[in-house]
Amino acid sequence: MAIEKIIVLGADLTSRYSLENYLRRCRYDVASASTIAVARAFLGKDNFDAIFLDLKLSDGDGTDFLKEIQMRPQKPLAVITAGSGSIESAVECIKNGAFDYLIRPFSDEQIGITLRKAEEFVRLIRVNRLLSQDTEESEHNLLGNSQDMENLQQLIRKVARTHATVLIQGESGTGKEAIARALFRQSPRARAPFIKVNCAAIPENLIESEFFGHEKGAFTGAVNKREGRFELAHGGTILLDEISEISPALQAKLLRVLQEREFERVGGSRTIKVDVRVIATTNRNLEQSVERKEFRQDLFFRLNVVPVFVSPLRERREDVLLLKREFMQRFSRRHGINIKGITDEARQTLLNHSWPGNVRELQNVIERAVILCGDNGMLEMEHLGLTVSNPPPPSSAAIGLATARAFPQTSGHIGGFPSLAEIEKHHILAALNHCQGNRTHAAKLLEVSIRTLRNKLHEYNGTTPASQDERVEV
Ligand SMILES: Nc1ncnc2c1ncn2[C@@H]1O[C@H](COP(=O)(O)OP(=O)(O)OP(=O)(O)O)[C@@H](O)[C@H]1O
Ligand SMILES: [Mg+2]
Repeated sequence: MAIEKIIVLGADLTSRYSLENYLRRCRYDVASASTIAVARAFLGKDNFDAIFLDLKLSDGDGTDFLKEIQMRPQKPLAVITAGSGSIESAVECIKNGAFDYLIRPFSDEQIGITLRKAEEFVRLIRVNRLLSQDTEESEHNLLGNSQDMENLQQLIRKVARTHATVLIQGESGTGKEAIARALFRQSPRARAPFIKVNCAAIPENLIESEFFGHEKGAFTGAVNKREGRFELAHGGTILLDEISEISPALQAKLLRVLQEREFERVGGSRTIKVDVRVIATTNRNLEQSVERKEFRQDLFFRLNVVPVFVSPLRERREDVLLLKREFMQRFSRRHGINIKGITDEARQTLLNHSWPGNVRELQNVIERAVILCGDNGMLEMEHLGLTVSNPPPPSSAAIGLATARAFPQTSGHIGGFPSLAEIEKHHILAALNHCQGNRTHAAKLLEVSIRTLRNKLHEYNGTTPASQDERVEV
């Protein structure tokens, strides 16, 4: 049982006893308190999972005691029992943290239902706590002993204390989001919301409402008003992931939010003010996007208050072995596989590899290797699936050769030479295949926006882009 110890607090002896008897029959460990003072003494001595709390007590007001309980670090779940009740009083108690509100006379069945709900609730809270601890301790720790990572950690510590806007730039998989989360966790806003928006994954027609919310009836399908991500992040931090992907119209609106910290919901006229710390990430070179007039310069300056550059993993090889160790431990724990060690050859292969997918690639390689290695085995080179070590970038001649091989029967073109469109299609499909169908990763690999990739694929399938059916990854 998730709930074991319960206090029953009530001035009326008969109703207290009947409730206690029922709880004892259900095998709960029950402590009986006729006054707030006695209940307080119980809470001082032991941890209780729940308290049934009458509102009318001889030495004080039950609502005040309910508020007092909420301040305790190990607060028990509070169920209010009232002789007579009103909706206002019930709402007041729930607002003050009560789990449920029962009006006498209540049946054993009613208490049974409340207890079952309470059991489930406590269980979920415990599972959630365990999961978040696990994620916090292992998965979100930013590891690295290279000089680059040490400098980065130092910068994070300095910047986290401030509310300054941060722009994190780096190749795909280098840990930009991990850095954003580290900044958030070390900031004074760590207890406030952290809201992430993946600018590349939200269809263009929905992104403004996703950012700023909408009023009821603002557009077809807006049946209710909805708060946007900026409103939800109020008091906390917003992560604008892949910021380079937003349209010029939205860039202008975002500029205003960054300057004034205010906006209107789509279809609304009321100005909403927010206090939000902004962190943005990009794996494109934003300065180049500015030069090419794809990204507003004024917005770039507003975002780039503190620039953070994350170097690719191939430029900080010291980190490879440290990360390998962490990932081996993490995945052997997760999959219940005990690994004896790693061969020198496999270790050297990891060090020599060029890691185009950076830390994410290393993480995936190690997870697969741990699974393939099996219980009580040594992790060997063949488990890594990295046959080519440090492949040089293909020369244009090599690309030409590969193209000729890929299009042996090209006809209908002068000299059997493939058209540019054919080469592009072949290249896009090859990238998609390489990324096992993951469009986000393929788009990054090809250095195009996910939208461009999506449109190309629709073109090949002979369909029109219908953004509604795309999975929105936020
Ligand atoms: N220094 C690090 N220590 C531990 N784990 C890391 C580190 N850097 C990255 N990771 C892990 O690698 C994975 C990829 O990192 P992350 O998602 O932050 O990359 P990214 O730069 O945002 O990639 P993308 O551009 O593709 O969105 C995550 O699981 C992250 O926890
Ligand atoms: Mg990311």
